[in-house]
Amino acid sequence: MKVSSRRPLVAANWKMNGSKSLAKQLENALVQADLRHVDVVICPPFPYLSCFEHDLKLGAQNVSEFASGAHTGEISTAILQEFSVKYVIVGHSERRTEHHENNELVASKALVALEAGLIPIVCIGESESVRDSGELFSFLAAQLDAVMDKLGITRCQDIVLAYEPIWAIGTGKTASPEQAQEVHQFIRAHIGKQDKHVAASMRILYGGSVKGSNAADLFGQQDVDGGLIGGASLDPDDFLKICQAAK
Ligand code: PGA
Repeated sequence: MKVSSRRPLVAANWKMNGSKSLAKQLENALVQADLRHVDVVICPPFPYLSCFEHDLKLGAQNVSEFASGAHTGEISTAILQEFSVKYVIVGHSERRTEHHENNELVASKALVALEAGLIPIVCIGESESVRDSGELFSFLAAQLDAVMDKLGITRCQDIVLAYEPIWAIGTGKTASPEQAQEVHQFIRAHIGKQDKHVAASMRILYGGSVKGSNAADLFGQQDVDGGLIGGASLDPDDFLKICQAAK
């Protein structure tokens, strides 16, 4: 039986999907459900942030490392906060790959978000080739170290981590609960080398093909504190099941 003092968190990462009508449907589904046991965060594309009227927790999918100015296509912490955004995903593997965001930039974005009072959801995770090469733990350690070095360990207690193996994202190939737990335990132990209290209190989400049908097994693992949900967050019924599985 899992025992944890960490409050579960489930975040919907719509990526470049969704619509105004989906925002309404998801909002209706969430406000009618009893989700007192879990923090639910919705991260839609930027314009849809203004479609959510109820008191739901909102997150952005990216933020600029700059405060303002001539950065076409970017978004600042201040703009996000005008739309009641409280969380921001940084370092998603799609941004690392498509926008060449490296560990250093991801750590800078996490710092900028924290300093503005936003909670960064910092994503880490390996490709299949890294896992096959036997470099899994050193690869993840480097991603974590960049964040801890930039933020300092004390500030790390205010972030959320998301472990998202790239080979499991959008592929239907979920990590097994045991694989997820093995990595989450490693992440917590690695952070614990610097500060056991921070490690014990930090929420670490799993992401990668989480669905209503596998969420309970994943979230039941001792070090898995919820999920970052892509595809299944576009289906209000399935997303609700995932939220309800985060007990
Ligand atoms: P997925 O995406 O649930 O569609 O695999 C997860 C993510 O990329 O955050």
